[in-house]
Amino acid sequence: MTERTLIVVKPDGVQRGLTGEILARFEKRGFKLVALKMLTVSNELAEAHYAEHKEKPFFPSLRDFITSSPVVAMVLEGQNAIPLSRQMIGATDPLQAAPGSIRAEYTLDKQANLIHGSDSPDAAQRELRLWFPELQG
Ligand code: RTP
Ligand code: MG
Repeated sequence: MTERTLIVVKPDGVQRGLTGEILARFEKRGFKLVALKMLTVSNELAEAHYAEHKEKPFFPSLRDFITSSPVVAMVLEGQNAIPLSRQMIGATDPLQAAPGSIRAEYTLDKQANLIHGSDSPDAAQRELRLWFPELQG
């Protein structure tokens, strides 16, 4: 099934110069790059994007992190793009991130973990509307 997903290279990924390398992994896998932009996340976007975490103790720190410097957001398309990209990203817990996954290869931090990917079709639809309203028709 062809799906679209939102991938965001977080501030740590952009600052560490890993944007190209991360994008290359998805391109080499066969995903189609549909849209791409660099932006600084506002508090409003951070709160809407991470609404499910708003009451969590780590939320203030997560909001400060994700708004701290520019990110690169992209829309990728391909068969099973949502679960496949999550697999390529790796688990949130550094101890659980599969060897070879992006997080396992480049980070050991639970918060500064380089990359976001939509985790379900509903989340993808919601996030694409939020980040790329210009794509909706
Ligand atoms: P994401 O939403 O960014 O793709 O990451 P995820 O699904 O793997 O993890 P999620 O549970 O949705 O958490 C969102 C982001 O919040 C930060 N976080 N910090 N300190 C902590 O315990 C903690 N837990 C999560 C991470 O940046 C995580 O990616
Ligand atoms: Mg998540």
